[in-house]
Amino acid sequence: MTVTSDMTTLRQWYPVAYPNQIRPESTYDTTLLDQRIRLSRDDHSQITAHRLADDNSEMATIPIVQRFDTLFSTLGDSPRPLPQIAEFSEDDRRIIHCGSFRVRTSPCRIVENFLDMAHFCFVHTDVLGSIDRPEVLSYKTEYHPETDEIWAVDCQFFQPTASKSAAASGQGLMAHYSYRILSPFSVMLYKSAMNFAGRFDAICLFIQPLSETDCLCYMPMAILDNVSTKTDIIDFQQSIFVQDGIILENQRPKLMPLTPRSETPTRADLSSIAYRRWLKSSGVRFGLQSVEGS
Ligand SMILES: [Fe+2]
Repeated sequence: MTVTSDMTTLRQWYPVAYPNQIRPESTYDTTLLDQRIRLSRDDHSQITAHRLADDNSEMATIPIVQRFDTLFSTLGDSPRPLPQIAEFSEDDRRIIHCGSFRVRTSPCRIVENFLDMAHFCFVHTDVLGSIDRPEVLSYKTEYHPETDEIWAVDCQFFQPTASKSAAASGQGLMAHYSYRILSPFSVMLYKSAMNFAGRFDAICLFIQPLSETDCLCYMPMAILDNVSTKTDIIDFQQSIFVQDGIILENQRPKLMPLTPRSETPTRADLSSIAYRRWLKSSGVRFGLQSVEGS
């Protein structure tokens, strides 16, 4: 496959593996933006990455950096800097990732689903939402020019089981959220942490587009939880993501149309509208249905 001509998409860092997937005794091959790449670890534990030719021989070296307990690479020159996420440096946080999930759809649809609070009560029933309390309360979207990011702030949603630590309490709560769109295909949320008043768990979603309609999703988290086991936290996040994956893979067309959603706009669509406008103004074409509908 030829590399995309979408320069905005090329000039991004993408997750390509977790560090523990790269072992000294073997190489790790994967795909980024339709290009085959290979990661390997040398005798000094240094990780390198190369693009692969059609015959699987190694071609040019490509950059590799480790951040948020995840390895990132890029195929473009002068990539947009990776975001600053202060929570990953705070001493009392637990840095946990819960594997990578394959979802066969556009990376844009995955970001949009992550931003969408309206689906909580229908898709994550009795966990992140309750059928009895489906309303998305008023919130705001903001553009931050200094980082070229979109934020959705002052989000609130009643959640029967907002997190693994909340499950232990046995009671629902009004969860407070902020969303932060970090790049075209990466997004994160800050969510009120149970038993840590005024502080928020940081949960990221970094997407590795294998192609325009096939992705691997990485979810490193910096969370505040002194009670739950790592396994319990991972199981909770994985069970949520499995539910999202089923919905996402059934959406048609797989490429996301850039036109506003056909449904009547609601509060829940505010962040979606801001994301779509930002994609358009950024010149992103990858993962999007062309204007002609092809
Ligand atoms: Fe979801």
